[in-house]
Amino acid sequence: MPTPPRTFSDYTRDYVCTAGHNDRLFHEFTAATWADPLLAPHRKHIEEHKLGFGDAAFHTMWKLLLAEAARRFGTVRCLEIGVFKGQVISLWSHLARTQNLDVHVSALSPLAGQPRPHSRLVHALRYRLDRHYRERIQNGDFYDNDEYEAIVRGLFTHFGLDFNRVALHRGYSTAPDILAGLANETFHIIYVDGDHTYDGALHDFKTFGPKVVPGGWLIADDAGASLPGTAFWKGHEAVSRAAEVLPSLGFKNVLNISHNRVFERLA
Ligand SMILES: C[S@@+](CC[C@H](N)C(=O)[O-])C[C@H]1O[C@@H](n2cnc3c(N)ncnc32)[C@H](O)[C@@H]1O
Repeated sequence: MPTPPRTFSDYTRDYVCTAGHNDRLFHEFTAATWADPLLAPHRKHIEEHKLGFGDAAFHTMWKLLLAEAARRFGTVRCLEIGVFKGQVISLWSHLARTQNLDVHVSALSPLAGQPRPHSRLVHALRYRLDRHYRERIQNGDFYDNDEYEAIVRGLFTHFGLDFNRVALHRGYSTAPDILAGLANETFHIIYVDGDHTYDGALHDFKTFGPKVVPGGWLIADDAGASLPGTAFWKGHEAVSRAAEVLPSLGFKNVLNISHNRVFERLA
């Protein structure tokens, strides 16, 4: 008899944060993505067209997590902070449609560039004098100007998805109008992948952590600096340090896939 596929809760139940286990999961989830007829074409498209960051392994993590969220909650409300060119929100929408899951996708992102200064002199001076600027450079926190909304729409169209179904909060996670618009919202899943400075990431964890319902999850990207393992990139030290606040906000780290750290909100 074939072994039934493992579920997200099988992985969290068996999880231990050791180098061997983290490396094994990274390889297993990567292979699972490339073997999956639904996930592989999506990730391949993202990589070929440079439409996103992160590891192929994350696609499998999202597939398992959305299925678990649907089992646990029925309707699933997901929010991504930091959309870039739409890899994750398109994947969620694609999984929802193809797996017949009731998933409501929200996105919080400027859909605009944050380019670093062109002038080498300005760059050199700011790098020397401005600690925040230095941190942004070190953490890759600049984005070229581009037609982000058109690119995201194009990605949705490519996979036959409707971007108009996404609840888009266009702006920054610190903007008062954005925060007011989300004041009464809660989510079952929040993916934090926006500002990569310590202060910015800490703000997002503290502000959006309480919006995760008990039993739901906050996934911190680029937050694996302290994780044992050698098979994967660990993310940014500043974001990883900021994520240390999560246990004090009522979260338990239940799984780590490469530098994506999955925290469950305790009841
Ligand atoms: C690393 S990229 C996100 C990558 C994307 N999650 C993916 O998997 O492909 C970071 C994104 O966050 C956006 N961003 C930066 N600061 C932000 C903030 N404070 N609030 C919302 N988005 C922010 C940037 O414009 C950029 O699109």
